[in-house]
Amino acid sequence: MNMTLPQTYPHLDQMQPWNDRLHLLECLSVIEEAPNVKTFTFKSDNQNWFRYEPGQFMTFELPVQPEAVLRTFTLSSSPSRPFTIAVTAKAQDGSIGARWMLDHLTPGARLKAFGPLGDFSMRKHPGEKYLFISAGSGITPMMSMTRWMHDCAPQSDINFVTCARRPSDIIFRRELEYLTSCMPNLKLAFLIKEHEMGQVWTGIRGRFEEARLPLLSPDFKDRTIFCCGPETFMRDVRTMLEAAGFDMTHYHQESFGPAAEPVLPMMDAISTEAVERSAMVSFSMSGMEVPCAPGETILKAARGAGIRIAAACESGLCGTCKVMKISGEVDMDHNGGILDDEIDEGYVLACCSKPLGNVEVEA
Ligand code: FES
Repeated sequence: MNMTLPQTYPHLDQMQPWNDRLHLLECLSVIEEAPNVKTFTFKSDNQNWFRYEPGQFMTFELPVQPEAVLRTFTLSSSPSRPFTIAVTAKAQDGSIGARWMLDHLTPGARLKAFGPLGDFSMRKHPGEKYLFISAGSGITPMMSMTRWMHDCAPQSDINFVTCARRPSDIIFRRELEYLTSCMPNLKLAFLIKEHEMGQVWTGIRGRFEEARLPLLSPDFKDRTIFCCGPETFMRDVRTMLEAAGFDMTHYHQESFGPAAEPVLPMMDAISTEAVERSAMVSFSMSGMEVPCAPGETILKAARGAGIRIAAACESGLCGTCKVMKISGEVDMDHNGGILDDEIDEGYVLACCSKPLGNVEVEA
């Protein structure tokens, strides 16, 4: 691999933004952060810069054998450093995608990715002061936001609470400690569950619980809260905040859980008229025309006909299933996985778009 610096490198104003439909990502570096946790930094394969909001995520197509998988990761990098992006992946027990990344992804490898997307960002939900609460790899969006504030708004008032099993599991610990020396209003609290042999721990031990909240963040009721971690952790935090009388309109959490299956009418309850009203979906690249029952999504119709449309969250969140609509109308009920200007250009999310009459899409 050529390790020399490029002879010429364009300035930002000479570059185009990265576009997931045109460009790939090339891995630049891999850094070990904690046991089973690594940060992967990428550049564009075409000298582009990256436009995103701190806290957003991307979906990666990972060439796992025997079949590629799609996995969504929050960006841990900050858009204030737009030449590269980074994700920090943790391989949990039984994980396939993150495990593949940790074991096989090395500098020089190229990947297809979709996004960035999502509205879990203090730029989308601004507040006067913030409380970040995270557990495990849920720290990554908070890190992106904190890095952005360090670069662009270093006076920001942040109470940053993160929970981990052991001290060595705290991701970004050294960098966060360094940032407290540059950001006068950044207050850190690490909570760990277990002691570690040979390690002196002078910080807090135990779970994140209601009695601790006023100690960790005395004015938490005046803050905008961002929370990210395992589903059970976020549920407990929500319950705790509600019990403490927090105004939940200032609470935001990141979740990649799949949506419930759409409730479709029972077959024998579908009237002849409804069957007759089935829309036809034409897939221009496959050259197939497929019936789509009322209430069915374009993704489901495609799958039924063996047409592959990449999809990850299947809840209108990640943007992976974006396809160009050539003609016809759809009812699209998304969760932020598509931008307004993409809708204006004619794109739809196949997983949450139901045809309203005959439709043609590029797939
Ligand atoms: S699969 Fe994620 S938005 Fe459709």
